[in-house]
Amino acid sequence: MALKLPDVDVLLESDAGVFAHRTVDSGTRFLLRRASPPPPQGDVLDLGSGYGPIAVTLGLRAPAARIWAVDVNRRALELTARNAVATGATNVVAATPEEVPADVRFAAIYSNPPVRVGLALLHPMLTAWLDRLADDGAAHLVVHRHLGSDSLARWLGGEGFGVERVASHDGFRILRVQPRRAVGDDR
Ligand SMILES: C[S@@+](CC[C@H](N)C(=O)[O-])C[C@H]1O[C@@H](n2cnc3c(N)ncnc32)[C@H](O)[C@@H]1O
Repeated sequence: MALKLPDVDVLLESDAGVFAHRTVDSGTRFLLRRASPPPPQGDVLDLGSGYGPIAVTLGLRAPAARIWAVDVNRRALELTARNAVATGATNVVAATPEEVPADVRFAAIYSNPPVRVGLALLHPMLTAWLDRLADDGAAHLVVHRHLGSDSLARWLGGEGFGVERVASHDGFRILRVQPRRAVGDDR
């Protein structure tokens, strides 16, 4: 399917059994149009890559960065890897969560997160990855209001992350999340 953005125009392969396989999800398109561009270098995470529209776009926008496209769905990872090669986004690494080395810290995280897995899985998944942001890093999450964006923002704030709603359209919100600081850390 076609992914057309002001700066990116690519054809991506998808398949049944993968999220939004007949289209580029509206939330994903909104995130890619409105979130801040990725840092030019360093490690960047696409959490829940699906067939790779976010990872491929990040890879093309920041060719000197390393883009980790992480998913638990093997077919999604195969498609992400194929789409990265086909579009020339050779800096995209498709990996399961376990395959990302534990010492990697992310300059940025972008995600259309798997909110439908339920809060019991979503919350620990998000905190585990958000706690791997570099001190000056930030995450951009797109979540629809009907899928709990506002309560997720409140929950993340309560967990100590800096949370700001930076864009909103058609019920989708983009949340910018900054690392939580230790108590007494006044950096
Ligand atoms: C809402 S979809 C977004 C897919 C893709 N980024 C897009 O925009 O089309 C969320 C993705 O998260 C993946 N996922 C579910 N549980 C996960 C987990 N524990 N760790 C990483 N990814 C997960 C799903 O397989 C799915 O591909």
